[in-house]
Amino acid sequence: MSNKTKCVGILTSGGDCPGLNAAIRGVAKSAMANGSRVVGFLDGFRGLVENRTMVLEDRNVSGILTNGGTILGTSRDKPRKMPMGDQILDVTDIAVANAQRNHIDCLVCLGGNGTQKNAMDLCKKGLNVITLPKTIDNDVAETDITFGFDTAIKIATDAIDKLHTTATSHHRVIVCEIMGNKAGWLTLGAGIAGGADVILIPELPYKIESIVDHLLARRRHQKRFSIVAVAEGAISQKEADEIKENGKKKKKKKTYMDDDGTYLVEETTSTKIARKITQACGIDTRVTRLGHVQRGGSPSASDRLLCTRLGTKVGQLLAEGVYNVMVGVKNDKCVPVDLEKVAGITRKVPSDHEWLKTALLVDTNMGCELKI
Ligand code: F6P
Repeated sequence: MSNKTKCVGILTSGGDCPGLNAAIRGVAKSAMANGSRVVGFLDGFRGLVENRTMVLEDRNVSGILTNGGTILGTSRDKPRKMPMGDQILDVTDIAVANAQRNHIDCLVCLGGNGTQKNAMDLCKKGLNVITLPKTIDNDVAETDITFGFDTAIKIATDAIDKLHTTATSHHRVIVCEIMGNKAGWLTLGAGIAGGADVILIPELPYKIESIVDHLLARRRHQKRFSIVAVAEGAISQKEADEIKENGKKKKKKKTYMDDDGTYLVEETTSTKIARKITQACGIDTRVTRLGHVQRGGSPSASDRLLCTRLGTKVGQLLAEGVYNVMVGVKNDKCVPVDLEKVAGITRKVPSDHEWLKTALLVDTNMGCELKI
């Protein structure tokens, strides 16, 4: 079979995650094996717009499988709305023109939901694209899993394990804030795997009374420690009602003044919940925000395997000339899905998901009355 893609462009965009280098390697090695030239664009779509490139050769993608981060760099910039000097411009045409200037037959974009949308914009302007689903949030549509999720869930689970020992010694409640943007996959998965006593996710608005009742019941049963795993995007029932009414959450940032009178720190989801627990029942409560540690370090064995499978599947599609798809995972197979079905959709935890049922069966409080 003749190779349909002589020159491949590749970029990584959005928040980084472990596995990006493994995926770059998978795409590049398989494309090179078919005789394609591979050009990397630096720092996501901004590098494409600014025409900052790096020709990838075998030696560039050797030895990167196990490395976290991305050798290409990344950014959250989107061609549709890119800050350029003091303006925000639609530079989609420049992005497409630069791809053409570099003789790119197809641009491979590795990223999460934002990236799928950006790639779709370029595709609408006539550029061939293929995307891969990358994010620790696991919230990309039309795929059973995104790469980076497995590594992040392990990091968060490990953190919950560690918090357990100290919470037990001090008979405390520890609220652990986990990333995931507006989806609860990471918190739910790590919460179950780490045995969190309360799990709060954006899909299920919480009532503080439900959480406090559960914590007090545990105390009555001589369980004098508790771990609350809270997703950064978790919202209270009151906030959910507000969103229903006004379309979005009112920005009510609780702030603290530093002693020099200038520095303001906003209250986060986890500090707010910890404060409310202490106010409601006086239990000694601490907060741990895992933050970007969840996106750092070497990818897990499963992520390395997944990235290599997805990347080499891209190589195969490039050779066949199959474009404008995202390669997702369905029933443990890497399959191309129409990009149009993916772009602009966030995959949330469905209210009847089996993981929720699992959590309930081990007496986890989900911050609300939940019957499945
Ligand atoms: O999408 C990945 C993610 O880590 C989210 O879980 C989180 O909300 C966001 O990125 C953080 O973004 P940044 O790295 O730009 O602070």
